[in-house]
Amino acid sequence: MEFDKVVEKRRSIRSFKKKAANWRVAIEAIDSIRNNPFAGNKNNLHFIIVEDSKKIDNISKCCEQDWILDSNLLVLVCSDESLIEEMYGERGRIYSRQQAGAAIMTLLLKLTDAGAAACWVGAYNDKEIRDILKIPEKINIEAVIPIGYASGKNEKPRKNEPKMYWESWGERKRPTIFTEPGIHDNI
Ligand SMILES: Cc1cc2nc3c(=O)[nH]c(=O)nc-3n(C[C@H](O)[C@H](O)[C@H](O)COP(=O)(O)O)c2cc1C
Repeated sequence: MEFDKVVEKRRSIRSFKKKAANWRVAIEAIDSIRNNPFAGNKNNLHFIIVEDSKKIDNISKCCEQDWILDSNLLVLVCSDESLIEEMYGERGRIYSRQQAGAAIMTLLLKLTDAGAAACWVGAYNDKEIRDILKIPEKINIEAVIPIGYASGKNEKPRKNEPKMYWESWGERKRPTIFTEPGIHDNI
């Protein structure tokens, strides 16, 4: 799919068809993050694929979001911030969360491109999920991503206007003192 189409098509889908999503779609989405940027080029992310319906049931309870039960396939995105902290100290913890977020987005776009539907779920009880999936204490749980195929259309219009400034905070007009280079002159 064309890049703009994928970006536009991606939606948080919370209602899935009965048709189950194949684990291969999850593997391909996870694999796509190998091209992501990582601070110090250190990939500190871990992914857990969950197909067991009992576990999905329990994780849905940890999130207090019943719609997750409609999915037969979850991906949990986890990070080991200690690896980045070793390189960058305190700031490494920020990098770790940032690169997890970037990877989650890549994953969601790849799933969209594959015709699947998903949602970034960030509200859950960490400890309960940790217990169910045996995730070590030092690992952060960054997101739960239920995957399936969208039932019905999501036509809700977007309203997230980017807040954009020129040269300094709050300046909404581009100063006219600059010349107008041709678009993509340097390519
Ligand atoms: C950090 C983060 C946490 C989120 N947590 C949840 C969640 O727990 N449950 C949920 O249904 N959606 C969750 N969402 C999805 C947002 O609600 C959704 O992205 C937003 O409403 C915009 O809709 P769209 O993704 O369809 O463009 C989360 C999104 C982000 C970025």
